[in-house]
Amino acid sequence: MTSAIRPLAVRGAATAFPLVLVLAAGPALAQQPYEPQIGQAGKDVVWVPTPEPLVERMLAMAQVGPGDVVFDLGSGDGRMVIAAAKRGAQAVGVEYNPDMVALARRNAEREHVPADKARFVQGDIFETDFSSATVVTLYLLPDLNLRLRPTLLQMRPGTRVVSHMFKMQDWEPDETSYLVNSPAYLWIVPARVEGRWSFALEGGDAYRIDLEQQLQELSGAVELGTVMAGLRDLRLHGDAVSFAFVDGQGVLHDLEGKVTGSRMEGTFRAGARTGAWTATRAEPKPLAGLQVSRVRIR
Ligand SMILES: C[S@@+](CC[C@H](N)C(=O)[O-])C[C@H]1O[C@@H](n2cnc3c(N)ncnc32)[C@H](O)[C@@H]1O
Repeated sequence: MTSAIRPLAVRGAATAFPLVLVLAAGPALAQQPYEPQIGQAGKDVVWVPTPEPLVERMLAMAQVGPGDVVFDLGSGDGRMVIAAAKRGAQAVGVEYNPDMVALARRNAEREHVPADKARFVQGDIFETDFSSATVVTLYLLPDLNLRLRPTLLQMRPGTRVVSHMFKMQDWEPDETSYLVNSPAYLWIVPARVEGRWSFALEGGDAYRIDLEQQLQELSGAVELGTVMAGLRDLRLHGDAVSFAFVDGQGVLHDLEGKVTGSRMEGTFRAGARTGAWTATRAEPKPLAGLQVSRVRIR
């Protein structure tokens, strides 16, 4: 009870009329809409909203659309989730502050976004399972991004991560965009391809390749008898891989394909020849160095 009501309540019948007024005003006072303050404390980081144009840019960078499951970690007033839902995604906000969760739900309702498209969960981002996400959006702090990084890197290859303002240390972004002075960074979670692979080209040629991986950066070599031929034009983009090599006869081979766990498959071009290729992981890690004697498995 407020101090404004307490003195009136003890004056009795003589002041009954004002008391009725105050009591009537009570519920209205209690329903004062929650007004968040920019910079207010949060569990691990304060609340500062992402400007709406940058929200749209971040969702565009991630190419959010129907079929996506978007998680905003630390969802504040819900603007990222609401905007993602408007693009047809299933969107979920995880927010520790229950008042912000309630505010976000009201904002979604006001924007006529159905509750099953824009969900808000009260919880700690470090204790919430967001493994179903195809897109994760962040506006946290550098050290919080780093705490999330191992979990993000375990996600399905191709998952898009977008962060307002803060990076992921040596995990170089795949895109950086700016709204005036505010950067947004995009990363595509790379498949894990490091190791030794046996691969076969349609038509009979079979080789071993060793791949080394540092996040989305690849290097590697293919065994050509006694020659370890360096792979060139290596690219890993989510689960999409491509590389090229020159074989023992001097023919340039261009390959592109997709990675699914311990298997890769795709198509190649070698001079006038084209066809399919497949590869299976022979060992999880390459043997140390390239001077180990190699067996060509033709
Ligand atoms: C900088 S704001 C970003 C809000 C929103 N994502 C946006 O871009 O507009 C960070 C939000 O994270 C919330 N937060 C802080 N620590 C959290 C935690 N451990 N779990 C969930 N939410 C958290 C804060 O309450 C705040 O709303």
